[in-house]
Amino acid sequence: KKGKKLELLDQKYPIDEWTNVTKRISQYPGKNLHLKPDHPLSLIRQRIADYFYKAYPNKVGNPLFSVHDNLRPIVTVEQNFDSLLVPKDHPSRSKTDCYYVNSETLLRAHTTAHQAELILMGLNNFLIIGDVYRRDDINSTHYPVFHQVDGVRLRTQDEIFQNVEDSKNLRIFEHRESDSPDKQGCHTLEATKIMEHELKTVLVGLVKSFFGQDVEYRWVDEYFPFTHPSWELEILKHDEWLEVLGCGIVRQEILQKSGAADRIGWAFGAGLERLAMLFYSIPDIRLFWSEDPGFLNQFKVEDYHSRIVYKRVSIYPPSSSDISFWLPNETEFTPNDFFEIVRDIGGDIIEQVALIDDFVHPKNNRRSHCYKITYRHMERTLTKFEVNTIHRKIGRAVQDKFNVEIR
Ligand code: PHE
Repeated sequence: KKGKKLELLDQKYPIDEWTNVTKRISQYPGKNLHLKPDHPLSLIRQRIADYFYKAYPNKVGNPLFSVHDNLRPIVTVEQNFDSLLVPKDHPSRSKTDCYYVNSETLLRAHTTAHQAELILMGLNNFLIIGDVYRRDDINSTHYPVFHQVDGVRLRTQDEIFQNVEDSKNLRIFEHRESDSPDKQGCHTLEATKIMEHELKTVLVGLVKSFFGQDVEYRWVDEYFPFTHPSWELEILKHDEWLEVLGCGIVRQEILQKSGAADRIGWAFGAGLERLAMLFYSIPDIRLFWSEDPGFLNQFKVEDYHSRIVYKRVSIYPPSSSDISFWLPNETEFTPNDFFEIVRDIGGDIIEQVALIDDFVHPKNNRRSHCYKITYRHMERTLTKFEVNTIHRKIGRAVQDKFNVEIR
């Protein structure tokens, strides 16, 4: 394999022992569903940009925020992790979770990867929208490619205190050794609280613009390496609390390294599929990739503010088969590796892969996994023969790749 290259978006990348982008995944960069006319993700993108345009007009009424929705999804490890202070041993960097092009390059795992570069360009108010890539479970809400929006707003001392009475002695910075739960060591509590209040207000407003004034929501403390303090916003839908976005006060070290040391900033990130599925009642994440006019035509509207509720054209029956195998002894195996094979062979007819039995043999200590694979085509009924053929092919591939023993 020496000297071999991987081609992505018209550029060739050297392959090394980190490469785990499959042929199938390499087809996704450039698809840009969020820019496809009339696509539900494109409608969501427009609604979010429009909300920020209206929330933050500049002095003469033009939008203050700039939108960056066509940045290359192929980024460096520096962009995706180092620039955001993600520790070298953080699990989010692992090969099990990310699609690496090679040891220095990956398909971005979040749109936050562009935060530092845009700040370095001198921007103070911006949105980043694009496709992101993660190795994960297979079910109705997870797909290896999805879309995110990130937002950043940086402010100077004069700007944040301009409407505060007797603000002459108020500062952004003070010098404490360490962080406390409610602020970074380098920030004053008053500067942090003003930013926190603005951030939470604007994000609750965003969620209300989708789900109505009466939507039930709650803030939950979170941890991100690139913000402190950090929160997650959850909304109540069908009696369940669902996380819709993460946010926080940008780590000052990021601003210092990006030429904005005199400012304080907030940032957030949200998944577009999650919002779109809740907003349009779309039941399965694979539908976003469907070319079926029965799906796409429902989103052809004059005005992206139109209220659309997706109607399932019809439901084709699912079909399930189990697969059990003994895991290899020198356990290099992770479930994500198995999912990758299933995805590679089955593609979009795989609805779900669920671990239904994890068993350790009492005598020889060998471990066995049993997964239930659910097959369902979005546009037609699958024949038993089709399903069996693919299921057997998966069995063989698993056997070859991991040297496991099918039970
Ligand atoms: N990048 C984070 C994620 O993918 C979201 C986030 C963005 C959180 C910006 C805080 C600030 O989950």
